[in-house]
Amino acid sequence: MNNYFIEKIFEKNRSMQSREALLNLYYLLRETLPVPGDVIELGCYRGLTAVLLRQTLDQAGSNKDLFVYDSFEGLSQKVGEDMVYSREGMRSCDFQDNQRVKEGFFKTSQDELTSNFKTFDAKLPQICSGWVQETIPRDLPDSLSFIHLDLDLYAPCLHVLTNILPRLSSGGVIVIDDYSDITRHGHQNAYPGVKAACDEVFKKPLDLLSAGSYNYQAIYRKP
Ligand SMILES: C[S@@+](CC[C@H](N)C(=O)[O-])C[C@H]1O[C@@H](n2cnc3c(N)ncnc32)[C@H](O)[C@@H]1O
Repeated sequence: MNNYFIEKIFEKNRSMQSREALLNLYYLLRETLPVPGDVIELGCYRGLTAVLLRQTLDQAGSNKDLFVYDSFEGLSQKVGEDMVYSREGMRSCDFQDNQRVKEGFFKTSQDELTSNFKTFDAKLPQICSGWVQETIPRDLPDSLSFIHLDLDLYAPCLHVLTNILPRLSSGGVIVIDDYSDITRHGHQNAYPGVKAACDEVFKKPLDLLSAGSYNYQAIYRKP
């Protein structure tokens, strides 16, 4: 076993994910390999965290399928829960991100994802293209063991959480990107809607993962 491939993914995707965040995905996915079900990523963008999931599965000789979901049109519309009106309690980069990230941000194409998988010589995932409000639950596998949730906004996060939880096997894990908790991190990140959606579904704060100073992750493990 080695995790050196993560370094190459980090170099290509450093604007999106810290090394620590990638390592968390790697070790948590490995931990859930004995759990029944497939692996999904909600919000795959150019596919680089999905490549990490695929290569982790292949390295372990797992026959789990990988499904990825994205509009490829970028973010959907922000709602009140996603807005920040004052920079109090925020680092300036996070405040600026909140202001500049709007509908359509992170637009990419399925070809770009395919090309990244080719660069890493990785088997293509099942690509579920479209707004998650349409593709979920329609295109979900019946049973899930590991979920990377990276949709940035309140409405899609709430929609998918409600629909994926019943399919997550016992012992399965959801790694939630961009979940920040001002009372525990000491500052608010650019995506307050992610925690707002999780709070509605989980009713109590999630466990935080150490993910580097500008990355935020939380984890849910199904009992
Ligand atoms: C931060 S990016 C994902 C980054 C990727 N996981 C990585 O680390 O490389 C968020 C993605 O969520 C997608 N997205 C946001 N809202 C969506 C929605 N309602 N339906 C489908 N995709 C959505 C965007 O298109 C974007 O590609």
